[in-house]
Amino acid sequence: MDLIMAVIQPSKLDEVKEALIKAGIQGMTVSGVKGFGRQKGHPLAFLGLYNMERQPFVVDFIPKVKLEMVVPSELTDAVVDTIVKTAHTGKIGDGKVFVIPVSKAVRIRTNETDVAALTPEEAEAPVG
Ligand SMILES: Nc1ncnc2c1ncn2[C@@H]1O[C@H](COP(=O)(O)OP(=O)(O)OP(=O)(O)O)[C@@H](O)[C@H]1O
Ligand SMILES: [Mg+2]
Repeated sequence: MDLIMAVIQPSKLDEVKEALIKAGIQGMTVSGVKGFGRQKGHPLAFLGLYNMERQPFVVDFIPKVKLEMVVPSELTDAVVDTIVKTAHTGKIGDGKVFVIPVSKAVRIRTNETDVAALTPEEAEAPVG
């Protein structure tokens, strides 16, 4: 199992969520976060915009959305590809994806563990 943590542009959330559901994920945690990457949160300096003191406009932290999902390892590559393809605009600040190994998962209601805790609900038994 792996934890896939992705930081993406908020405007891409709906599209990425729909694509991830199609890719087979069974759950996701989403948070609104703020962060910076290698431009150090100074995107306007890249446009050549400066303030009256001739310093680049400083925006220390830029709003992003963080997605976290734990998936069986067989799904990891497909899920990462889906996020990268769907969240991509080609502009700076598109975000990042991190993959972290997970040692345990428990579904609290049933006490199922690990991959069993991540699988889809079984179809209802046919009546009659
Ligand atoms: N090394 C990192 N560790 C944790 N979070 C990060 C890291 N790099 C980026 N992030 C998060 O991802 C967000 C988007 O990063 P961003 O896409 O700007 O990365 P970048 O390396 O600057 O790439 P780009 O040049 O395409 O902008 C940041 O605001 C931050 O929340
Ligand atoms: Mg950046």
